[in-house]
Amino acid sequence: FLELSLRPQTLSQYIGQEKVKQNLAVFIEAAKQRNETLDHVLLYGPPGLGKTTLAMVIANEMGVNIRTTSGPAIERPGDLAAVLTALEPGEVLFIDEIHRLPKSIEEVLYPAMEDFCLDIVIGKGPSARSIRLDLPPFTLIGATTRAGAISAPLRDRFGVLSRLEFYTQAQLTHIAMRTADILQTQIERTGAEEIARRSRGTPRIANRLLRRVRDFAQVKGDGIITQELANYALQLLQVDKLGLDHIDHKLLKAIIERFKGGPVGLETIAASIGEEAETIEDVYEPYLMQIGFLQRTPRGRIVTNLVYHHFNMEVPGK
Ligand code: ADE
Repeated sequence: FLELSLRPQTLSQYIGQEKVKQNLAVFIEAAKQRNETLDHVLLYGPPGLGKTTLAMVIANEMGVNIRTTSGPAIERPGDLAAVLTALEPGEVLFIDEIHRLPKSIEEVLYPAMEDFCLDIVIGKGPSARSIRLDLPPFTLIGATTRAGAISAPLRDRFGVLSRLEFYTQAQLTHIAMRTADILQTQIERTGAEEIARRSRGTPRIANRLLRRVRDFAQVKGDGIITQELANYALQLLQVDKLGLDHIDHKLLKAIIERFKGGPVGLETIAASIGEEAETIEDVYEPYLMQIGFLQRTPRGRIVTNLVYHHFNMEVPGK
């Protein structure tokens, strides 16, 4: 309940993603004026930037219910049929991790998205027959960490494609202050800024760090999140000055120490540090590339000189 109430309910409460919000506000307004459902929306971008929250905000602004499922949860066509036939007219269906929808299911989704109907096969062998079910009009909101991870035919069926970006320090500070307010925790602006600086441009991380720092403030301090307290707590949480954690360090140090700074292939790095390639690619790399620590080249990943400076290491070849 608390987790849910942390989420903004309206576009005006939602901090950041200004371009995405501006456009969505127009599409929502236009659909409402015409008494139509909103066109299908694909939200993409790194994890933790607010795709699920934004889907809930869209449904709320449209004044309709949202039903939530995820790509991996839909295993058979019948699973999708069950979800689609349960929809009430105008509702939003949110499919998280839509890139993990099995290919055979995607094909069931096409006519549902385009014509609001469902062709299902009943029975097996010679007695099998296909029946067509009409569906109520609905809005599909899909979320994925990479737009490139979903097939072109599926991507083409979304009328609205919105890419979420990393948040600025100022936006994350604002979010941390807002969350502290909801959690009824006292925070100084400089405390919020310290958390924001170390949140890798990601509200989910800012909110997680805020809760942990709040624990330290409560037990080790006087309950107030000052910059000093935040700094002390974040150090104990092994979050460095740029927000890089234990796994970011392991990743960067592996490239430097085992592969001479690169280039090295993603799979090789993954095997070397014992993390999934997909996790590295979706969760860790986007921010490291954003801050210029990591580059992708045709021959693999390379670390930049900034990484050597960050670790107080000598830049090789100097
Ligand atoms: N909490 C998490 N993300 C948020 C956002 N973008 N706006 C407001 N509150 C948030």
